[in-house]
Amino acid sequence: MRSFIVHTTFVSLLAWVTLTLALPSSKTANAPAATSTIGTNDAAQAAGKLYFGSATDNPFLNEDPTYKSILSNKSLFGQLSPENAMKWDATEPEQGVFTFTNGDAIVALAQANGQIMRGHNTVWGSQLPAWVSDSGFDNATLISVMQNHVSTVIGHYRGDMYSWDVVNEPFNDDGTFASNVFFDTIGEGYIELALQAASTADPNAKLYINDFNIEGEGAKATAMANLVSGLKERGVPIHGIGLESHFILGEVPTTLQAQMEAFTALGVEVAVTELDIRMTLPETDALLAQQQTDYQTVISACRAVADCVGVTVWEYTDKYSWVPGTFAGQGAADPWDENFELKPAYDGIIAGFSS
Ligand SMILES: *[C@@H]1O[C@H](CO)[C@@H](O)[C@H](O)[C@H]1NC(C)=O
Ligand SMILES: *[C@@H]1O[C@H](CO)[C@@H](O)[C@H](O)[C@H]1NC(C)=O
Repeated sequence: MRSFIVHTTFVSLLAWVTLTLALPSSKTANAPAATSTIGTNDAAQAAGKLYFGSATDNPFLNEDPTYKSILSNKSLFGQLSPENAMKWDATEPEQGVFTFTNGDAIVALAQANGQIMRGHNTVWGSQLPAWVSDSGFDNATLISVMQNHVSTVIGHYRGDMYSWDVVNEPFNDDGTFASNVFFDTIGEGYIELALQAASTADPNAKLYINDFNIEGEGAKATAMANLVSGLKERGVPIHGIGLESHFILGEVPTTLQAQMEAFTALGVEVAVTELDIRMTLPETDALLAQQQTDYQTVISACRAVADCVGVTVWEYTDKYSWVPGTFAGQGAADPWDENFELKPAYDGIIAGFSS
C-alpha cells in the first residue's frame, strides 16, 4: 500500500507541476498591480480630453457580466468602438441586405451608459464579403456599391456617432496606396468619394481616415499627411486622422508626439484609436513595468497635443484581446489582465494624463 501512496503523491505532484506550467501566464501571486484609484476616463477629461474608451465586441459583451459592468463604468470608459460589428462583412453580408443587430446592441449600451461612440469602419480592403472583393465589378458599379454601403451604414447611425473611421488602412508601409478592390478598381479617388458619401449621410460626425504604422515619422505618415492636406485643399470633408497604435513593448515611436503635431497642423484632429502594447509571453514583472512606461508615453503624447481628442484601447482586458490569436506567442497587451485585475499599465495611463 505504501508504494501506492507514494505513487499517488507523485502523480499529484506531476499534475500540479503540469497544471502550473500550463497556466496561460506565469504571473506569480504577488505580481505587481496598479495602485491608482481614479478612473481612466475621469483622468482623460481632467486633462481636457474628450474621452478614454475601449473597443468591444459581440457576443461576449452580453455574455460576461463582469466584463460588461466594467465596460459600462463611465469613470473608466467614456467612449466605445465596435471591434467587428460595423465592418462590411458584418453589416452587408449580401448585396443590399443590411444587418445592424450587433452594432445596435453596442450603440444601445453606450447610450445607456452615457458614453460616446466611434464608428468603425466603412471602407477597408479586409473583412469584405466575397461579393465585394471577388466581384469583378467595373469602376462605375463599384463606386455605386461603395457609396450605397457608406450611406446606408452611416445613415443608419446618423446622430449616434461622435466620429467614423470612414476609410481604414489605405496605405502600405512604404507610403504607396494599399492594393484592395477599391483602389485597384476606382483609383485613389475612392477615398474622396467615400468621405463625401459619409458627410451626406451624417453631416455632424467627425470623419476619419485610420491607419497603423503612422504613429511615428516615416514614409507612411508622410503619405497620410499628403493625402489629408490634398483632401483639405480640395474641400473634401475630412476631420481626423486615427493612429491605431498597436505597439510592440519597448517600441513606441520616439516621434509620436511630433507626428501627432504634424497631423494636427494640417487642420484635423487626431485620436489614438486602437491602442494595445503586446509582449512576448510569458509576462514578467520587468515586462509589465516596461508596459507601464510605454502606456504612459503614449498617453502623455496625446495629453500634450491639444487636438488629440482621446484614446481608445483595443479591448481593455487581456481576456478578449485579438493579439494572441494574431501574433503567436504574444499577448498581455491590455491594461486589465484576463481576470479583470488592473495591471501596472493602468498606473501608466493615469500618470500619462496627469503629467
Ligand atoms: C467605476 O470606476 C471608478 C474608478 O475605478 C470606481 O471608483 C467606481 O467605484 C466604479 N463604479 C462602479 C459602479 O463600480
Ligand atoms: C473611375 O471612375 C471615376 C469617376 O468617373 C474616375 O474619376 C476614375 O478615374 C475612374 N477610375 C479608373 C481607374 O478608371
